This record gives sequence, C-alpha cells and structure tokens, in this order.
Amino acid sequence: MVKICCIGAGYVGGPTMAVIAFKCPAIEVAVVDISFARITAWNSDQLPIYEPGLEDIVKQCRGKNLFFSTEVEKHVSEADIIFVSVNTPTKTRGLGAGKAADLTYWESAARMIADVSKNDKIVVEKSTVPVKTAEAIEKILTHNSNGIKYQILSNPEFLAEGTAIQDLFNPDRILIGGRETPGGQKAIQALKEVYAHWVPEDRIICTNLWSAELSKLAANAFLAQRISSVNAMSALCEATGADVTQVSHAVGKDTRVGSKFLNASVGFGGSCFQKDILSLVYICECNGLKEVANYWKQVIQVNDYQKNRFVNRVVSSMFNTVSGKKIAILGFAFKKDTGDTRETPAIDVCKGLLGDNANLSIYDPQVTEDQIRKDLSMKKFDWDNPIHLQPMSPTVMKQLNVVWDAYAATKGAHGLCLLTEWDEFKTLDFKKIYDNMQKPAFVFDGRNIVDEQKLREIGFIVYSIGKPLDGWLKDMPAVA
Ligand SMILES: NC(=O)c1ccc[n+]([C@@H]2O[C@H](COP(=O)([O-])OP(=O)(O)OC[C@H]3O[C@@H](n4cnc5c(N)ncnc54)[C@H](O)[C@@H]3O)[C@@H](O)[C@H]2O)c1
Repeated sequence: MVKICCIGAGYVGGPTMAVIAFKCPAIEVAVVDISFARITAWNSDQLPIYEPGLEDIVKQCRGKNLFFSTEVEKHVSEADIIFVSVNTPTKTRGLGAGKAADLTYWESAARMIADVSKNDKIVVEKSTVPVKTAEAIEKILTHNSNGIKYQILSNPEFLAEGTAIQDLFNPDRILIGGRETPGGQKAIQALKEVYAHWVPEDRIICTNLWSAELSKLAANAFLAQRISSVNAMSALCEATGADVTQVSHAVGKDTRVGSKFLNASVGFGGSCFQKDILSLVYICECNGLKEVANYWKQVIQVNDYQKNRFVNRVVSSMFNTVSGKKIAILGFAFKKDTGDTRETPAIDVCKGLLGDNANLSIYDPQVTEDQIRKDLSMKKFDWDNPIHLQPMSPTVMKQLNVVWDAYAATKGAHGLCLLTEWDEFKTLDFKKIYDNMQKPAFVFDGRNIVDEQKLREIGFIVYSIGKPLDGWLKDMPAVA
C-alpha cells in the first residue's frame, strides 16, 4: 500500500489530503502538524476550517485511510511520498523583510525529513515557494542523506478557498514539476498515478521544477492583477459617471479577456495574493529586473489604494468624521463561504475606521469574535505563522463589538459597510434595518451586492464601488 504523509494540516494540507484519501481508497494518507490544537480539531466534529463539502469527505475517510496526527516523525519515516504544505509567510525581519518568502518552516520540515527517513522518498512541494526552492531543499536533504535518495517535485496547489472541494474534485489542471533525469521522471510518474485516480490525463501537466514553482506565483499574480485592474477602473467610473459593472461586463464579453474575476470590490484578500506577489517582486529584484518588479508591485499598491479609498468614502460621506459613531460591519472573511480572514480587506477597513475613532459592530456568519479581535490587534504578516506562535491574547478594544446577527449589528448604527459577499446579506430586510438606524442612514457596499436603487427608495444614502455616485457623495473627495 502506498503511504502518503502531508506535513501541515492547514487550508491546503487538510482538504487536498482528504480528497486524495477519498479518491484513492488503496492509499493511506496521514496529515501531520506541530499544532496540537489543529490536529485535535481535525479529529473532532468541529473541523478547524470551514469549507463546503469538506466535513462529509473527512467523515467518510477518517480512521479508514485518512489520519490526522501530531506524530510527525513517525508518519514521515513511514511514508513513500511526503507532501510539504507548511506556512511560507512573508519575512518580517532581516534580508528581504516585507517581501521575501520566509522558508523557516519549510527548512525545518526538510531537516526533519532528512533526520527520520530510512528509505528513499519523494518530497513534494505543496506550499507556494519562491522559484528555485527545490534546489535548496534538495541540498538540505542530500547533505544529510545517509545514502537515502530523495526526489523533489513541485506540485503547487491551485484550489480556491470556498470552493476547495469542488476545485480538488475537478481541477482545471494539476501541475507537476520534476528533474529531467530518469529518477525525476519516475517520481513525476508516481505522483501522476495518484492524481490519475480521478483527474483526466490531459489535465495533468508535467514541467521542469522551476516552471512549476514559478507558474504558481505567476497564476496568483495574474489573478490579483485582474482584480486590481477592475478596481482601478472602478475609481475612474466613480469620477466619470460610468458604471463598473457595465464596463466589466462589456470588457469580459471579449473571449480573449473572459468574464471571470472581474468584479470590482473593496480589494482582494486571502493568504496568498499579496504574499505571493511580494515574493515575486523580491525574486525579480534579486535578478536585477527592477521594471518587472515595479510592474507587479503596482498590483498591490492599487489594492491598498482601493481599501483606503473605501475608508475615505465612509468618513467623508459622514461629515468627515466617524468619531463616536456606530458603524456596522457586515462580513469579515476575505470572501464568502470561508471563515478565513487572512489578509481580508475588512482588517484594513476596520483599522481605518477605528483610527478615526468609530465604534464598530461586526457580524460575519463564519468568523469568531476571538479571530476578529486577534486580526485587528495583530501586526502585519504575523498571521502567517503556525497558530501556536501567534499572539494568544488580543488587546481589548472598547470600540469593538462582535455580534451574531446582521440586525443586531446595524441597530442604532449611522452607517453599514458590506465587506464580504455572503449570500445571506443579499436577502436582508433593509427596510427593517433602515428603520432601526440613525438618520441619515448610509450603506457602503464594498462588494456590489445590494440593489442600490431599492435602498435609495427606502431612504438610504448608498455608495457602491464603481457605480454612479449618489448625489450626497458627488462633492466628497475619495482620494487615498
Ligand atoms: N490557502 C490557500 O488557499 C492556498 C492555496 C494554494 C497554496 N497555498 C500555499 O500552501 C501553503 C500552506 O497554506 P495554508 O493556507 O494551508 O497554511 P496554514 O497556515 O493553514 O497551514 C500550514 C500548517 O503547517 C503547520 N506547520 C508549520 N510548520 C510545520 C512543521 N515544521 N511541521 C509540521 N507542521 C507544520 C502549521 O502549524 C499549520 O497548521 C502556503 O505556502 C500557501 O501559500 C495556500
């Protein structure tokens, strides 16, 4: 029986391994982690991450051919194929701080593999890593090898949170990069056979190691660039009276452009886009490609601009101050159908409003109060460390109230900000909300999910990103 071990039981390791176990009953899959809390949650009824469809497959495989364990060394030593899916945060200090990927966790995983291995292994990079990381990993393993042979493969993950199970069941492509040696090709074939249990062969792309590593950074950069492009247009739409939804519809109809990923919003978030673009920028700089680095840097700058612009719209519309005013925040996760808040634009928007002394009342259907408080008190990039290394006791913030209902959040509020496109927000009783708010009552739609005309008829002053401005907002500046 082939044995797989995955180091890192996070948003990637957990779902990907659950799907491999589900699709390959003859393969034994162990997911290991240094975080005891995470593994305990994976073995409980309350999984550590929310992802539609995940619970069902975990329940079907757990204890049969899928195991979650903190016995990292035992499972690594027994495995034939080891996936490494640990955090690769942005460095916060030293060389490359604020840009370069921090490979501390990756390196310690590689050293541990070298320490405990007793037979030949295939080591698979599942984490997103800078191009050429495989070379470094190879060096660590071979210099500590004791005669054991290692093949390093790059198999980046393209799942999107919120649709992870669907994406894993039916991927656009599986990318496997390996050495162009007979040993490398044999390892590629072994991993290909795992995926071939359910992925059609023509969707399994095999490349050299560096192409696979770089393709992941490139794919995230392209995706984020689309969002920044449409968000840049949204600012111009507001200035000119064009409607960004009409513009993106018209542009997206061109088959060369395509219609996906063209929704204007308060900005992109999630654990990957910013981190991976910063890593790409750093790699370009290290290779002397200043112009290329600056090009990609702009994608992040436009994203920051969009979040600032949103905060400025809120504050300037409300007579240039939100001090002491109650603002309801509906949605905190970085997108719908996930409880993930890593790099969510809600963090920057909330921090901006708190900076202007607002009182925030936050509701998100999947995010806990503890998580929100932690996110709002954590330093930039600290979130991307294993949970047990993150600050445990968030600072108490009196201006913050977390509630479990959109109506409670908006009761008595001066304004409400929609920051995540949860379906339930589309069907709220806005008349009831309006009646219970202070007047004038403001809605700031950061996801373009409300019918702004209907809301205006109710009496709200409405700001929707990139849409023709409400008369109230026309003379208000929105510069970042
Ligand atoms: N989240 C996504 O949507 C996504 C998508 C594609 C790729 N990625 C990449 O995948 C990687 C993992 O991302 P994630 O979202 O799953 O992160 P995560 O923080 O949810 O999970 C990483 C896990 O690794 C564990 N870990 C760290 N060092 C370890 C060690 N030495 N031994 C055992 N466990 C260790 C941590 O405790 C943590 O539970 C990152 O490189 C990320 O960029 C993420």
